[in-house]
Amino acid sequence: MSKARKFVIARLFKGEPKVDDFSIEKEELPSLKNGQILCEAEYISVDPYQRAYTQRHKVGSTMIGSQVARIVESRSPEYPVGRHVVASLGWRDQTVMSVAPTDDDTLPPVLVPDLGDLPLSLALGVLGMPGATAYFGLLDICDPKPGEVVVVSGAAGAVGSIVGQIARIKGCKVIGIAGSDIKVKWLKEELGFDHAFNYKTVNVEKALKEAAPNGVDVYFDNVGGEQSSAVIANMRHRGRISVCGCISTYNATKVAMAPVVQMHMVGKELKMEGFIVTRWLGQWDKAFKEMAQWIKEGKLKYRETVTEGFENTPEAFIGMLRGENLGKAVVKV
Ligand SMILES: NC(=O)c1ccc[n+]([C@@H]2O[C@H](COP(=O)([O-])OP(=O)(O)OC[C@H]3O[C@@H](n4cnc5c(N)ncnc54)[C@H](OP(=O)(O)O)[C@@H]3O)[C@@H](O)[C@H]2O)c1
Repeated sequence: MSKARKFVIARLFKGEPKVDDFSIEKEELPSLKNGQILCEAEYISVDPYQRAYTQRHKVGSTMIGSQVARIVESRSPEYPVGRHVVASLGWRDQTVMSVAPTDDDTLPPVLVPDLGDLPLSLALGVLGMPGATAYFGLLDICDPKPGEVVVVSGAAGAVGSIVGQIARIKGCKVIGIAGSDIKVKWLKEELGFDHAFNYKTVNVEKALKEAAPNGVDVYFDNVGGEQSSAVIANMRHRGRISVCGCISTYNATKVAMAPVVQMHMVGKELKMEGFIVTRWLGQWDKAFKEMAQWIKEGKLKYRETVTEGFENTPEAFIGMLRGENLGKAVVKV
């Protein structure tokens, strides 16, 4: 029998999470029953939803999250030892799990396909949930056409950096909004964004008017709040807005306020739609195949911000919420 480590919530978050809001606990793992596997985490994903899903935070509960894990023991022939899975196991280093679907809303483990030379951690990033979010949230909801102007906020993050590049692949003019000059430089010089600016140092509305004097056709919204109101005020007639997230509010301790957008929505006949990426779960594979091909062809670039060591997972999470990541934030266990 082996002992697993897991991060539990020691104190409910107030505002920005703190390192001592988490504590590590050890746990005896049971012997395997039929239909179960023992997995060892190799990469743990730190994501904004882990802050936003406050209803799942209870003192003593295991911190939520997905991971890429190696199967080290198996009593399920479809999940052989040595293969890797992506699974929502939380911040744990070893887990015994059943491979059959459970009656809670946890997704069953998914075998990671052969990624060739690409790192396994991409199954948490561009070839995982954030990649699917970018792909379907942009293409299905906004249907961008060649020559259209696409704006993405949170542009240098896991989802945003992929959204902008897909829009470029589709022949759009792409404008990214991000929170540092290093991010802006990366978006323009390496990812081929047509324009990018730092929302912490420029007036978003003014910068947008300069970059897109005729207005914005598509807005992929990762952040919400004032930034998004400024973009929506600069949309063109029949523009489309994909509402992916609102990270500007996740740490808020009181109701966030932003300029009203309804007059723009009405006057310009805009369409705005929120989504949860699992809507397209049955089609994720198709998106990953296409994006893996784009990576091979050099059309789609990815970047990861890797924190080493299981015990540093809270720091990686807090750093991601603060904007310290370029591309996808992951922990190498
Ligand atoms: N709907 C879905 O199914 C779905 C799925 C996945 C993700 N999401 C959402 O997509 C968004 C991006 O997720 P991600 O995984 O790609 O995370 P990410 O962008 O890799 O990391 C979070 C980023 O948010 C930015 N940020 C933090 N505080 C901010 C603030 N007050 N205002 C503006 N930006 C702020 C930071 O970048 P800066 O340095 O630029 O500030 C930080 O790097 C989140 O809102 C997330 O909840 C939704």
